[in-house]
Amino acid sequence: MRIHEPVLLKDFINLASPITGCWVDGTFGAGGYSRALLQNGARQVLAIDKDSTTKVFLKIIQNEYGDMIKFYNQSFADMEKNNDIAKRDDIEGVVLDLGVSSMHLDNPLRGFSFRENGPLDMRMGDQSGPTAAEIINHCSEATLADLIFFYGQERKARKIANRIVKERKKKEINTTLELAEIIRAIVPRNFKTDPATRTFQAIRIAVNNELRDLSKALMFSEKIVRKGGTIAVITFHSLEDKIVKDFGKIMSGKAASINRYSPPALKTFPSLIPINKKPVVAAIDELNRNKRAKSAKLRVYKKVADSSLRVLTKMEFPDIELGI
Ligand SMILES: C[S@@+](CC[C@H](N)C(=O)[O-])C[C@H]1O[C@@H](n2cnc3c(N)ncnc32)[C@H](O)[C@@H]1O
Repeated sequence: MRIHEPVLLKDFINLASPITGCWVDGTFGAGGYSRALLQNGARQVLAIDKDSTTKVFLKIIQNEYGDMIKFYNQSFADMEKNNDIAKRDDIEGVVLDLGVSSMHLDNPLRGFSFRENGPLDMRMGDQSGPTAAEIINHCSEATLADLIFFYGQERKARKIANRIVKERKKKEINTTLELAEIIRAIVPRNFKTDPATRTFQAIRIAVNNELRDLSKALMFSEKIVRKGGTIAVITFHSLEDKIVKDFGKIMSGKAASINRYSPPALKTFPSLIPINKKPVVAAIDELNRNKRAKSAKLRVYKKVADSSLRVLTKMEFPDIELGI
């Protein structure tokens, strides 16, 4: 199994420097970002990952940095329930390097890969919440179509949902290759991407509540980071990036109204400013080295004022109830 190679790490360090004080790494993974923070001046890293198997990488960093790193096996969406984080007033930065790791993709038993057969699981966290198989076999056809359309941005969503429902009447769909074959029979192949890519992304987002968790974590990060501190997010698809971009607009006072159905946001003064106007993408040498870097985008914000007004509008993103 490959060890996860962090994406856009040098760019992050450059934009976030000088790195000092206590940082929250909300997506510890194989610890690449946590280690780089410590190597570049952080006094302490509070690392979070909902996947407890990442603890094997923690040991390696602890051997070097002792208790300068602490680990919490939880979702970054629940940072505010963690008193070690929520009660502090000296958090210098929060970094979120979203999505799955190479360890997830390379282990067929985790069910993320449409290239190798495995159980349809896709849970990043520790075995609570529905599995991909439960969603595929129990959600209504309309819900499946919405999930695949909105979370996967797949134009053939309705056809795929219809075929899934027909197939599951004959026999439960329990493996990654069974699902991938159903999709491949409907979506035409193209040179670049496997036809199953978008539907697998959709189901993974639903299983792990990814969009809701991201928006919660961003709102809390803006509160917890001290004035002068940094929030950095690396996204891997346009739905995530839009949430981060909208968040940046609201917090930097640039959003008259994020949602055309909602009243204008009350927050008109900036508490954050973007460090980079356009998101940073990987340079050619990183792209040649690491395929995952292809869709990565880095946005970095600096906190310039403490928030005194509450944001009244919610960030807009598709939020689909599973109904199971
Ligand atoms: C792309 S990897 C991060 C890699 C890491 N930056 C590194 O350098 O090795 C994403 C990690 O975030 C974790 N993760 C994803 N969503 C999470 C959430 N809501 N809460 C906590 N951890 C999450 C995944 O389990 C995975 O280990």
